[in-house]
This record gives sequence, structure tokens and C-alpha cells, in this order.
Amino acid sequence: MKHPGCWKMLTVAMCMALLGCLQAQELRGHVSVILLGATGDLARKYLWQGLFQLYLDEAGKDYSFSFHGAALTSTKQGQAFVAKVLESLSCPEDVAPDRCAELKGQFQRLSAYRHLATSEDYVALSKDIEAQVQHGGLREAGRIFYFSVPPFAYADIARNINSSCRPGPGAWLRVVLEKPFGHDHLSAQQLATELGGFFREEEMYRVDHYLGKQAVAQILPFRDQNRKALDGLWSRHHVERVEIIMKETVDAEGRTSFYEEYGVIRDVLQNHLTEVLTLVAMELPHNISSSESVLQHKLRAFRALRGLQKGSAVLGQYQAYSEQVRREQQRPDSFRSLTPTFAGVLVHMDNLRWEGVPFILMSGKALDERVGYVRILFRNQAYCVLSDERWVADQSQCLPRQIVFYIGHGELGSPAVLVSRNLFRPSLPSESWKELGARPGLRLFGRPLSDFYAYRPVREQDAYSVLISRIFHGRKDSFVTTEHLLASWGFWTPLLDSLAHEVPRLYPGGAENGHLLDFEFGGAQLCFSQQQPEQLVPGPGPAPMPSGFQVLKAKYRESPLISAWPEELIAKLADDIEATAVRAVRRFGTFHLALSGGSSPVPLFQQLATRHYGFPWAHTHLWLVDERCVPLWDPESNFQHLQTHLLQHIRVPYYNIHPMPVHLHQRLCAEEDQGAQTYASEISALVANSSFDLVLLGMGADGHTASLFPQSPSGLDGEQLVVLTESPSRPFQRMSLSLPLINRARKVAVLVMGRVKREITMLRRPDERSPSSVTEHGC
Ligand code: BG6
Repeated sequence: MKHPGCWKMLTVAMCMALLGCLQAQELRGHVSVILLGATGDLARKYLWQGLFQLYLDEAGKDYSFSFHGAALTSTKQGQAFVAKVLESLSCPEDVAPDRCAELKGQFQRLSAYRHLATSEDYVALSKDIEAQVQHGGLREAGRIFYFSVPPFAYADIARNINSSCRPGPGAWLRVVLEKPFGHDHLSAQQLATELGGFFREEEMYRVDHYLGKQAVAQILPFRDQNRKALDGLWSRHHVERVEIIMKETVDAEGRTSFYEEYGVIRDVLQNHLTEVLTLVAMELPHNISSSESVLQHKLRAFRALRGLQKGSAVLGQYQAYSEQVRREQQRPDSFRSLTPTFAGVLVHMDNLRWEGVPFILMSGKALDERVGYVRILFRNQAYCVLSDERWVADQSQCLPRQIVFYIGHGELGSPAVLVSRNLFRPSLPSESWKELGARPGLRLFGRPLSDFYAYRPVREQDAYSVLISRIFHGRKDSFVTTEHLLASWGFWTPLLDSLAHEVPRLYPGGAENGHLLDFEFGGAQLCFSQQQPEQLVPGPGPAPMPSGFQVLKAKYRESPLISAWPEELIAKLADDIEATAVRAVRRFGTFHLALSGGSSPVPLFQQLATRHYGFPWAHTHLWLVDERCVPLWDPESNFQHLQTHLLQHIRVPYYNIHPMPVHLHQRLCAEEDQGAQTYASEISALVANSSFDLVLLGMGADGHTASLFPQSPSGLDGEQLVVLTESPSRPFQRMSLSLPLINRARKVAVLVMGRVKREITMLRRPDERSPSSVTEHGC
């Protein structure tokens, strides 16, 4: 169709068809949809069908349409491709075959393919749309550009649309973008900045197709329509845990070039599962039909996500994966991929509604079944006197209580909303959801289907059809805004960085996985339930287990030295601290504990928070050994570490918590604010003889302890109890207890973890391996 005359004829034909389909009624305007990548896989499988559905839903109402398939494919091939796809379109079940054929005919006449490559092509496209609108005597309402193209093509297309394809004044422009939206926070930011140079935020619709899945799209309406019943239930007081799951049987064969770059966390958890999580966890706006307030509330949920650590995730990789990468990407025989194809992640929210509730996100390829769901499992606080054979689903409080948004596939084979009968009878819109018929023998989550009030959509719709309709109606809350995107990457990127070199557990795939991938959690940690069987671990010999190493007691500078693998070391230190605390409280009524920062004490804090229920926290005062000159809420702050890993899990009276005053009068560690002196006075006032019961120190690889550095002499002697010091690394300014003050403590423990610190402690073991150590002594 290179010949201009042909295009004119087609335009006229389309206009005629378009007018033919319009009933004699006032139109609000004409909408042109331009599908970029019209000959691609996504377009073939979903997008053309979604556009047809849009036409079925909207044509004859207020708008007229034209659909332009565009791609780099030659005109002849493209036309043939589009003609074939259009022929295969289907109508919903309730449309009679004759009517369907008629509607399909109309849609075919409104659709055309065009080769779109150069900037001139874009200019011509815009002119043709204008001509079409003019010919039909129509008013242009808007243009939708659907980018079904790889991200490297985005910038060029965006530039062309912005410079020559914007509609005239009064009409809107909507551009629809498909993932991946970057690879991490930085690349997402760069991509967002680039696109922001061409489009306004309100013009961009980033698709996460999970937001179009019917069960997912029903989460907020369900919460809204059942507010009364859910008000008392939707919180940490009643919810035991939330599971957000997407299991797949397929593997990554055929797309390893994409997958090898992304892996399961970037491919599924960062987007689909996180979006679902925010819909469950966000505060419900008063008016859920306001896109703006939904988006605002969702953003707040993103901000309440507690930062993840390496221990928050388990990773797996199906065994055939590396071989597939080697084959598809011509990698050498020695190549072993570290890309995870399976991940389980434990997420927590730091807010009053959800504090302490585990949100489990899990997805994987080559698993035993294909299924997706969100399951909210409620605590059971009842005791039932009647024997269990007499328990009746809608009366017994002892049966499991759960709400499930069943996204699809699995045993049910369709989307559904399930509510245990012993919770409440839910209300769902009857025009779109109907009760599921009985399915004897079918069990879900260990219970017969008859235990649930179960609903399925009246008409099943593909996610893309749902989203295309939402784009048309300008429902921005079903899409990913730039702010949300960056918030999500901001949450996932640190975990991805920390896991970059982690070796995933190999699994055979399918039902053979058995219980190999089962995982369990405690506190903030997640781990596989079973140890890795040796036959799946490549490499020589079994790895040494921590328990194979004896705790060694010796002397170090006249004090006891305990040297062990980290697990035992931390357990021993935590026991010693608790024993010291109990003794101090018994003798003096209080226990003054000064803690240092950095990463070494983190496992100790976790140990104290999760294993030491006899600790006399109510009588313990917590002090800081040193602090970085950053605000207390900064992730670099030592206090923030203490807060995240210890304080929020225990009950210490707030007046017993003594952060260092590094941030006074909106300034950081300014001499004139006298923060060091203030802290020293507080210590003198509360701690008898300014002698802490226990000071826990760490040691830097350069030999520094607390924030006392070898090259900066302040604080090593003299009268001052608390000093400002300078660190050779960022943040340069620090506040620290002085050495004389530390040496007044009844007990000092130095916790040294990690191989790199071996030299500095000048410890030598007869063994090659280097355990960590703690010494208890005066400096
Ligand atoms: C895509 C991922 O976003 O979602 C795929 O890139 C995954 O890896 C797919 O298979 C799953 O979507 P659905 O709709 O089949 O559940």
C-alpha cells in the first residue's frame, strides 16, 4: 500500500464504513488507536482481540473509532498478517453468530495496516487521521498509541509521536507502554526521564497486565463493597498471613536472552506481585472511583514496605536452565547461570495495620502447576466444643477462615473470589460476578469448595481487554505511574543487588521438585525447609556446616575469646548479654546497654528480638556507642538499624531509649548545638558512675572501634565522655563515646565478624577457615 492513491481510497472506505456503523446519534468524537508492533506476538495473541472488545463495548455509544496497525513489517506482509488476525477474532459467548459476523465485518473495515518507520511516515499518519476525521465531519476526541515494541525502540517512536503525531487542541493523547520498565532503580529512572521529555505524566499508561486480571481488578471493589464486614478483619489483629502466588509450569526456553537479563524477581515479583500486594495492603480510599485517591493511597502503601535484606528471599533455578542459555546464546560449556527462575520473598509493612503480618510473594517457572492467587488467611481464635465431624462450614469458627482472589488456572480453571462461609457472605456486583456451581470432589487450599462462598465472572475477560477499556476511559489507577514504578524499584533494587552473586538452589522441575522448594520463615528471615541435597550441588564435596565447628574458648589480651562460626557466636553473645542484663536488673534495678552500629550486630539484634523472651527489656536502657551524622530516619543511621532490627520487635519503654543527638536545630553535628555534651550529661544523670553495664563494640577493617579512628585522635583520652570525630569514609562526621568512657564500663564485648577483619584482630587459627570472634574485655 505504498501508493498514496491506495491510502486515500482506504481512508475513504474506512470513513464510509465508520459512518455506516454510526447510528443517527450525536457523537462525542472520534478516537484513533494506533497499535505499534501490530504484527508481534502480543498483538496477535491479545491486543487485536482487546481492541475488538473495545469496539464491541463502545461502538454505537458516544464515540467512533479507527484502528491502525503499524509495524516495520513490509506493507504486503503486514496486511496479510493483520487480515489473518482479524479473521480469527471472537465474540463473547452471548453474541449470536450472525451478529458476531456483522460486528467483525465492521471492525475489519475500520482496521488497516501501515508500514511505520521514518519520521515522514509519522507525519503522513497524522495527516491521514486528520483527513479521516474531516471527511467524516467528526470531531477528534483522542489518539491512543499502544507501544507493543521492545524498549530500545521507545525513544525514537516517542520522539516521532511528540513531534508530529499529537492530536490538535481539545483532543487527548494516550501512550501505552509495556514492561520491562528498566532493570533496576537507576535504569527505570533514566527511562522515565527520557519518556518524560516527550510525554506528560497523565499521557502515559504503563501496563501491568495483572492489574487487568479480573480477580485482581476486583480486590478494591470487593474491599469497598464489603467494608462493613472487613473493617474489623483487615488488619494485623486478625490476618495471620497473606500469600501472593504465581506458579508456572512453563520454563524460559525460547526467551532466555530476555530472561537471563531479568530473572524471576524482575520479571514477576517487582511488578505483578507487588502491584497485587499494594491493592491488598493499601488503606481503602473513601471513593474508589477516584483514580487520584487510589493512586495516592497505593503510593503510601509502597512507602510503608519495610526494606528487604538478603535473608528475606530464597532463590531457585530449574536444572535445565543453564543448558538452555548455553544453547540459545552460544555460551561455552563451562557457563553456569546465576539467574533465579524461582523466588520466595518475605515482605513486611511498617504500619499499624500490618505490622508483623508476613506477606509471602512467590513465583517460579517449571513448577508442578500453573496457578495464581492472593490468599488472606485469618487467625483462628476460637475453640469449638462440638466434635469436628459435626462442624458445619458456615457456623464453625474452627474451620480455616480465608479470602482468596483466585487469579486463574489451577484446579478451578477460572478467576474466582472465595470467602470462607464462616467469615461472612460477601457482596459482589451481580451483573459481573455469579455464584459458582457445586464441584463435588474439588478441594482448594485443603478444603472442599462447598466451604466457600465462591463467585466467578459472568463473562470471562482477558486482562488486555480489561485494560484497553480502562485506557479508553482514562482510568489511570489501573496503570503504573512513574512515582509507583520508582517506588517499586526502590524497594526491590537493594535486594537484587545483595543477591546478585547468590547461587540459586537447583530444582529438577515439575512434580519432581517434591518439597525441595518449600520454605519457612521466622522474624524477617526466610529459608528453605530442606537442606540442599548433595546430588544437586555441583562442585567437589559437601560444604562444611556451621554445626561442624566447635565453639572455642581462649584468651585474647587477658580476656575470654570466643571464636566460632557466626550462628554459634551470635547465639553465645546473645545468651551472655541476657545473663548480664538479668544480673544487673536483679542487683541495681536497671541495665544500661550501649550498642554499636554497622552490619555485624544486625544478626545479634535479630537473635535478641526473636529468641530472648526472658530479656528484662522493661528495665533496660539502650544507648548508642556511636552515630553517623545523618538524620535518625536515614537508612545509614545506626539508630535506624537498631530501630528496624530490634526496637520495633520488643517492648522497651520509650523513655529508656537514648539515640545520640546528632540532628539538632535542623543541623547535623554542629559544634554549637552541643549534642555531644548533651549526651554526656544524660549519661552522667542516668548511669551510675557513668559506667555502662555492657558496651558492645565492633571493629572496622582499618582497626577503628566505636567511631574512634586510628588517624583521628579525638576521644582516645581526656575528660570528654562523648566526642565528635571524623571518619575517613562517608558520612565523614560521627559522634562517639570516648575511650575513657568505654573503659569505665563493667563489661565490654567486641564482636568481629567476617574474613576481612581477620588480619586486624591478628588472630590465627590452626585451621584454614576463619570463624568470627567475640572477646569480652576492657580496651
Ligand atoms: C509476564 C512474564 O509478564 O507474565 C512471563 O514476563 C510470565 O514470564 C507471564 O510467564 C505470566 O502471565 P500470565 O498472564 O500467563 O499469568
